[in-house]
Amino acid sequence: MKIPADDPRLKIKSVTINGERMPFEDAKISIMAPGLTFAANVFEGLRAYWNEEKQELFVFRMDDHLKRLLDSMKLLRFGEHPSIDILREHLLEDIRANGYKEDIYIRLQAFVDEWGNMTAKDPVSTSIVSYPRPRTDAFLTGRNFAVSSWRRLDDNASPPRAKAAGNYVNSRLAGMEAKESGYGGAIILTAAGKVSEGPGGCIFLTRNGVLITPGVTSGILESITRDSILRMAAEAGQGAETRDVDRTELYIADEIFYCGTGQEITPIVSVDRVPVGDGMPGKITKALQALYDNQVRDIAPEHQDWRTPVYRNQEDYLT
Ligand SMILES: Cc1ncc(COP(=O)(O)O)c(C=O)c1O
Repeated sequence: MKIPADDPRLKIKSVTINGERMPFEDAKISIMAPGLTFAANVFEGLRAYWNEEKQELFVFRMDDHLKRLLDSMKLLRFGEHPSIDILREHLLEDIRANGYKEDIYIRLQAFVDEWGNMTAKDPVSTSIVSYPRPRTDAFLTGRNFAVSSWRRLDDNASPPRAKAAGNYVNSRLAGMEAKESGYGGAIILTAAGKVSEGPGGCIFLTRNGVLITPGVTSGILESITRDSILRMAAEAGQGAETRDVDRTELYIADEIFYCGTGQEITPIVSVDRVPVGDGMPGKITKALQALYDNQVRDIAPEHQDWRTPVYRNQEDYLT
């Protein structure tokens, strides 16, 4: 297959499998891996942001992502796997080996490899792929969303709290439906009809100046971006509620946005063709985007422990 000239793959010097660096083309998994057939695969998507002035790349909330990966492995009952210290080292080494000086995305996966049945726990392999990923235009322009006809997974069926590959069948169905109907994204409701989240990110809305987001028992992934937003809002004196959200609140909200590592804070400017507010990205959304950008790029001094410098020593940075 011909790779387009602007494909990020062309900038990858090496990827990492079980701590070993190799060209992307050489990184393979077994066709009998339970991680492939039975979705015995958990993963994380992280971002690292380039600060031009400081000539440094900062991984955002790296340890929180690694901790969530370990939680996902525990939920799926994985066998022996690398420790958080080893994973941290492999991740930073992977980025350094590629020498990126721009915003990047990192996909870290852990999966049951080689040969086995549905309940196999071992051997657990890990893969790390880092590649350039600039911010999308939708950060400024926003996107049109639709409420999906698909319902969100349930904690007692395929727990969304685990960032497990199998959960993304539900996300894919909702995402494909929205895309094929001409929308930029989907909002998925729980079986009880309350707002849950999108295929790959959480949902926030504002009503009468108050920020609102569904709670962690609404079938969502416990998003690190969502947590950062709630904490930044509290520090800025922005009122916020985590509670059940009705579908009809989406149609009368003043502002709505979608959040996650990939989409950062993307304004949602309409839902089911009903304009959100005046159909433009809202004031609170824009204020949160600015706070977020200052955090991820190490412009704001607070929360230094949210950022891990890639090329400089972490100890020097924190002191
Ligand atoms: C289903 C789902 N919800 C929420 C999120 C946002 O999580 P985070 O902010 O930790 O990236 C993601 C992305 O990882 C996701 O896939």
